[in-house]
Amino acid sequence: MKFDESFWDERYRQHGSVWSRNPNPNLLAEAAGLRPGSALDVGSGEGADAIWLARQGWRVTAVDISSVALGRAAERASQDAEAAGRITWAHNDLTASPPPGGTFDLVSAQFMHLPLAQRTELYHRLAASVAPGGTLLIVGHHPSDLEAGIRRPSEPGLLFTPEEIAAGLDPDEWEIDVCEARRRSVPDADGGSVTVTDSVLRAHRRAPRP
Ligand SMILES: C[S@@+](CC[C@H](N)C(=O)[O-])C[C@H]1O[C@@H](n2cnc3c(N)ncnc32)[C@H](O)[C@@H]1O
Repeated sequence: MKFDESFWDERYRQHGSVWSRNPNPNLLAEAAGLRPGSALDVGSGEGADAIWLARQGWRVTAVDISSVALGRAAERASQDAEAAGRITWAHNDLTASPPPGGTFDLVSAQFMHLPLAQRTELYHRLAASVAPGGTLLIVGHHPSDLEAGIRRPSEPGLLFTPEEIAAGLDPDEWEIDVCEARRRSVPDADGGSVTVTDSVLRAHRRAPRP
């Protein structure tokens, strides 16, 4: 498999910091109003989202395939003992062992880009791991970014629209809260800025009727 553990470990080893140390803006926008409970951070990378969630009071399970990323994330979290105490770091390939069903009040997957068949299967399992009443938040690069003049994975199927993700959710079980192609400005390689588009899908799982 192309995007396996050694691919990601190597990617993280090449740089002291791969991503910004800030939590993802769409996590802040979509999770700030939720009541904290248990959260799954899918592909937690260098830990900025997990740390932010823990600081909001969430008990976070942060899963990543890369032990290099997890080590870095745990080291960063250790600077805030209270937040660190709310995070469990888990080294796991989620395509091989998906999370348990009906467990989390929030499942957040930020920029988890996989080949289409694997993504469809994983997102299906992620939706199943949301507890009744809980929230699924999926954010990724929108396919229109391939024309934005910024580096993006170009293999067909890796990028997705929010509508594609929404179509995979059973309307009897899910209410779609946000399904949006959301634009934002990011720095480009020449010190200027470029507008990119994120696919943002937030949905909540209906609680069973009494
Ligand atoms: C593009 S990065 C995003 C990191 C983080 N969510 C963020 O937005 O900063 C994707 C992350 O998913 C992890 N990952 C990729 N495939 C995975 C898998 N099968 N199981 C668990 N984590 C995976 C990678 O190691 C990487 O840290």
